[in-house]
Amino acid sequence: MRLDHIAIVVEDIDNAIEVYHTAMGFPLRKTEDVPAENVTVAFLPLGDGSEIELIQPTAPDTGVSKFLAKCGEGIHHICLEVDDIEQAMADYAAKGLRIIEDEPRVGSEGQKYVFVHPKSTHGVLIELYEKPSYE
Ligand code: CO
Repeated sequence: MRLDHIAIVVEDIDNAIEVYHTAMGFPLRKTEDVPAENVTVAFLPLGDGSEIELIQPTAPDTGVSKFLAKCGEGIHHICLEVDDIEQAMADYAAKGLRIIEDEPRVGSEGQKYVFVHPKSTHGVLIELYEKPSYE
């Protein structure tokens, strides 16, 4: 298991890119609209294989927009990469952790992803990733 990214929810992604990319100097790997999640995201590699993900909600009444309204800007989730996401989901569920979805979704880079409810993990929303293998 390795840290894939730490996600920060922001009010205005362009302003946040000004801080993390322009001022702090992290490269900007990509920005992307994710209509399925009603967010715009940006990924900034840290150089060790992990990244910062900036997330701006693009619609009201979504989980991310409610989080922002309630908690303000700040860390939203931590994403861990696993080798086998279905196995990890089964293991965690067997140990009483609450996985938010029944099936992993698939992201734009082919990664499977799912979230573990923060009530299961001492207040931190945990995302699991399984990256595609290209062998
Ligand atoms: Co994420």
